[in-house]
Amino acid sequence: MILTLFAVVVVLVLVAFVRYHFQDDSKSRSPGIGLEDLKALNIKHDVHSAFMTLVNDEGAGSWPPRATHDGFPPALRPYRQIYAAMAPFLATANPSLDDEYNRIRCQEFRSRMQALLTEKVDIQAARSTLEIVQSGNWDAFPRDAYNGFYSCIACLRHAYRWATNPVVKVAQDEKKLCFPFELDMPWSYLQRRFNITSPCGNVMSNAICNLDPQGQIVYPINEGMSDVVRSTELAWCRLFYDMESMAIPIYCAMIQAIIAFERGDKNLCLTYINTGFINLRRVMQFVYEKMNDPNIARAAWVRHVSGIHSWGLTLETDDPPVEYGGLSGSQALLFMAVDAFLGINRYHSDSELKMDVSGNMRDVAATFRRYSFRKQLSEKSEYDIAIENSLKRMVNQLRSFRAVHKVRAVRYLSAPAPERLPMTAALSVLPSQGEEKLAVESYKSIDGMLTKRLNETV
Ligand code: HEM
Repeated sequence: MILTLFAVVVVLVLVAFVRYHFQDDSKSRSPGIGLEDLKALNIKHDVHSAFMTLVNDEGAGSWPPRATHDGFPPALRPYRQIYAAMAPFLATANPSLDDEYNRIRCQEFRSRMQALLTEKVDIQAARSTLEIVQSGNWDAFPRDAYNGFYSCIACLRHAYRWATNPVVKVAQDEKKLCFPFELDMPWSYLQRRFNITSPCGNVMSNAICNLDPQGQIVYPINEGMSDVVRSTELAWCRLFYDMESMAIPIYCAMIQAIIAFERGDKNLCLTYINTGFINLRRVMQFVYEKMNDPNIARAAWVRHVSGIHSWGLTLETDDPPVEYGGLSGSQALLFMAVDAFLGINRYHSDSELKMDVSGNMRDVAATFRRYSFRKQLSEKSEYDIAIENSLKRMVNQLRSFRAVHKVRAVRYLSAPAPERLPMTAALSVLPSQGEEKLAVESYKSIDGMLTKRLNETV
């Protein structure tokens, strides 16, 4: 009996020991790293305000943003119905290599969508609804529903742009395209709301806000296709959503580290940076794992998912023409914010950022950059050396992401897609034809670009 009791006590002590040493560091060592903690923080600081503005406004009280799709005001409901009616005509399992056939297919798709838009959308009523929100009255159109509408219009525009999925060469050859007024009008309101200039969608509109509260796609681009195609489409959207979800402790830790540093509490600052590091490592590991076959099937992704999220149209301006690319992982807040916090050069210029990254997200990144304290650290202070070492661990996480991403990006992009020219979203059509070997050649410039970015990550 005594022996049994002794054994139980030993086991309990061992369990406690293991728990103490291997429990989740990020939760145990740092108080206040969740969104609710951040909301409850009673402080006045620009970096906190910028983030909370993003959460409360574009995020509809949350991050990643909340998006709902069932509660559009009546005048805007036809848009969702039109997407649902068009989705079955968008995807095809075996795209034709015949240009004439593809031209007709695209024309028919566009005519059908235009006919539905003309028939079902009361443009005056739709405009009045959007006008009310623009004047600041959100009563009839809550922010989460507005985010859903953002996704709906962006996805309709991408569907109209490409008119068939996988995208085909004849559509890539188009450099200009007139859109139905029923799609241009609401988009102009959305551009003003999110303070972006691009005519196309972005990671926020096409991926993150394209999920319903159950995590399912609302505006599919592969309706009726095989399981592997549809699961790749879903995995792609979820990857961005989940990554931003998992990034919350990182944003919180970076904000708290900045505040602690300004207060001169370097010990606490260090604790928060370590929390940031642990969570960044976790998110990066998650991305490596998910950005891979079979979760995102290489052959399915390049043909059935990536193309339609690109854009490849040129807008004539008084200055040189502007080419718009479409979705890019570089539009995710996490990378912009962590680069800024660590004082790493920006990836995008101001005008590139303004194309696809919302005003509130740009503010968050700019504020992290303004308060980045890395350059103020002294090599003579022991605390500062420890802080720099910790920041360096975050830098190294980003470096390994960029090293892995560079290899995987080219591997994914060079999967065969004979119906189209080699293309990336942000960079559009590349110089050579779609044979695999030639495509690899044409991706060399991307490899160079991503290598440059890797080298800037110090
Ligand atoms: C699976 C296939 C992927 C491919 C083929 C790919 C391809 C590319 C390409 C060609 C670029 C350079 C052009 C541009 O600015 O967009 C790029 C940049 C970038 N991508 Fe991806 N990407 C993929 C997945 C992802 C994922 C899953 C993420 C993040 C979750 C991501 C994050 C980034 C970032 C942050 C950049 C900016 C460059 C940098 O900061 O290193 N990418 N990607």
